[in-house]
Amino acid sequence: MNMLTMRAGSAEYSVYVERGLLKSVPGRLKEMFPESRLAVITDDNVGSLYGQSFAAACETAGLRCDLFSVAPGEGSKSAGTFARLLSELAQHGYNRADVVAALGGGVVGDLAGFVAAVYLRGVKAVQIPTTLLAQIDSSVGGKTGINLPEGKNLAGAFHQPSAVFVDPSLLGTLSEADFADGMAELVKYALIRDAEMFEQLERFGAAPAGSDMLDSWIVRCLSIKRDIVAADEKDTGERMLLNFGHTIGHGIERLCAAKNLPMTHGRAVAIGMTAITSAAERMGLAKAGTAERIACVLHKTGLPYDISAYDKDEIWKGIVVDKKTLADKLTLVIVSEPGRAMLHRVAAADARNFL
Ligand code: GLY
Repeated sequence: MNMLTMRAGSAEYSVYVERGLLKSVPGRLKEMFPESRLAVITDDNVGSLYGQSFAAACETAGLRCDLFSVAPGEGSKSAGTFARLLSELAQHGYNRADVVAALGGGVVGDLAGFVAAVYLRGVKAVQIPTTLLAQIDSSVGGKTGINLPEGKNLAGAFHQPSAVFVDPSLLGTLSEADFADGMAELVKYALIRDAEMFEQLERFGAAPAGSDMLDSWIVRCLSIKRDIVAADEKDTGERMLLNFGHTIGHGIERLCAAKNLPMTHGRAVAIGMTAITSAAERMGLAKAGTAERIACVLHKTGLPYDISAYDKDEIWKGIVVDKKTLADKLTLVIVSEPGRAMLHRVAAADARNFL
């Protein structure tokens, strides 16, 4: 078992990583919260795989528990679903001593975390991430929230969980597409802080679910995130490095959503990481050949990297429409070579040159 200690502001909590961990989570929760009820928030897919058995195991462990399920997908990160869950907790009589458990991927983690942040002005939360993206990134660090019609993640709160339980054996049931999406974020971690992990990715490509190599990468990503969040919980400096590839990625996601083209977050970020690094090379901000190395790794892991199929003016429109980028200046993340990242502030209008 690997155990990492997260420190964020005044919060301190453990992140446990072990194959097969899910089975022991009910007993651990009973020890942590002996008098509490547990509201397990999941989605219909994860719920049908693990939800019923997890809830039954909680009851067996002596923890009163209810299962609340939402439709799978980004559409559930909405004000409507959020309000419905708050009402359901109230109808079930949940009180301040009770605990919300997020059992699912990034959508469920962000949504359930925000419910915990707001219900009765804040109750405890635990995260049990079931996708690669959630296991290495979104379940730790306390970012919670929902989307608004005006943009992604425009409402939310920092609400650190009390514990995070990462069971890599759950990744065996992920679709190839969901797995590749998580790999994009894993490549991102390697690029911003871990040259050795990037070299392993260059040699081997994606490691399969259930392999020792993937488990070790999960722990490495979590260690990087631990250090970054400890330095900058509220995302005003170093934590922004985690947005590498995301500015252009969000522009591509918006463009595709507007045109009903298939696109996922991880794929858009993969294209964004390559595109911004090509631009950084042209401007002398990145070592020559870095974009090519990134593209090769993404290709090996089954991810796209080529921006040329997308109209740059339309991507740019998608970037500036994002409310969070309406300021005069934009903070871009530049990887100068694998393992080394920096923040680069540019006038918003000049950011267009990075496309
Ligand atoms: N997922 C990016 C962050 O936690 O800051």
